Amino acid sequence: MSTTTFDAMWAELEPVGWAPSGGYRRFAWSAEDLTLREWFAAECARRGLDLTVDRVGNQWAWWWDGPGTVDDAVAAGRPGVAIGSHLDSVPDGGAFDGPLGVVSALATVDALRAAGVTPDVPLAVVNFVDEEGARFGIACAGSRVLTGQLSPERALALTDADGTTYAEALRAAGRDPDELGPDEQTLRRVGTFVELHVEQGRALVDLGTPVAVASDIWPHGRWRFDFPGEANHAGTTRLEDRRDAMLGYADLVLGARHVATQRGCVATVGKVAVTPGGVNAIPAHVTGWLDARGPQEDQVRALVEELTGRAGELGAEVTRESWTPTTRFDTDLADRLRGVLRGAVGTETPVSVPVLGTGAGHDAGILATAGVPSAMLFVRNPTGVSHSPAEHAEREDCHAGVEALTACVRDLTRGGPDGEPAPGVVRRADGDV
Ligand code: GLV
Ligand code: MN
Ligand code: MN
Repeated sequence: MSTTTFDAMWAELEPVGWAPSGGYRRFAWSAEDLTLREWFAAECARRGLDLTVDRVGNQWAWWWDGPGTVDDAVAAGRPGVAIGSHLDSVPDGGAFDGPLGVVSALATVDALRAAGVTPDVPLAVVNFVDEEGARFGIACAGSRVLTGQLSPERALALTDADGTTYAEALRAAGRDPDELGPDEQTLRRVGTFVELHVEQGRALVDLGTPVAVASDIWPHGRWRFDFPGEANHAGTTRLEDRRDAMLGYADLVLGARHVATQRGCVATVGKVAVTPGGVNAIPAHVTGWLDARGPQEDQVRALVEELTGRAGELGAEVTRESWTPTTRFDTDLADRLRGVLRGAVGTETPVSVPVLGTGAGHDAGILATAGVPSAMLFVRNPTGVSHSPAEHAEREDCHAGVEALTACVRDLTRGGPDGEPAPGVVRRADGDV
């Protein structure tokens, strides 16, 4: 096991984008993100992996020692296996959400090599760009554009808090915005995707197990609520004369909590922008962003409808920024990985590997929706906290995660006795994407 390479890579990433809060600010196409992308490229180069960047900016580093190119292998019926995650973060996010999957994937390459294993199908380590949507508002933008679930026109017009468009951010990062678009050729190479991720809850703490396999992702989405008002003096304007945009926003926040409780969902208003933003000025405009999720799609939709209706009565405009329906991961693949992991995860006695659903969105979900058989491994998080500096995974569990991922990849990339692709590598029919 490559605990040393994991630890060394982790130590290198630690200072990048670190904020005084103790968390990380690593936003898509920012200076910090570019540093992380360079770091990733250097790690891939050090391992002799062949780095390609798709039309969106996602970085794919291929290991293929077989005959011909990766595309030749795919054409010959040996689609690749991709592993990885993302390196960007939410504002003041934890160190693990994303980077754990990328670092574990690179350490898996090292572990396979240390064991003298050469994959019989191409293996890629991927760094998806802009998973959190922290800067431009749409989560998993990198995998959504890649798979055609977000149009390049819409993506390019997104703006960050400073008014910088996605197109301008790409240009500033040295990329040509005209290149942005779905990338069929890249997708075709990926027969299976496995994303390892820190658990974003406490199920594994309660179960006393370091690693689980994912079953599904709750339906979830983001909506922007714009409440109108009128700026005026906080001291001289009579209460009855005011049009205070903040009141509508307050109703949204309290309503979200109330309706979510009634409907068995979760709802969060975690971002707000107030114009003009003066302590002594009545708000002329308030924008609040609602994040709503839940186990039942119809309940999430009903929740948003109810909140939209309430806000509409107060003159608000509501815009849906993203929506992801329920994602169910491939059960054959999940069962197969559970079988591989039984007894392979830091214990000598075979353990039952738990299957967990999650309320968090992931690139693996976007790929699964696009028809790529995908799976996720979750690594125990003792705090259960995520999207916060308190997010954590013990080093021993990180190593168990690498061990688990290595066992899975070994199985998924192993050829049959006659040089056939791995029996059971789940393959898509041509033109599925
Ligand atoms: C991504 O982490 C999300 O679930 O919002
Ligand atoms: Mn996240
Ligand atoms: Mn993540």
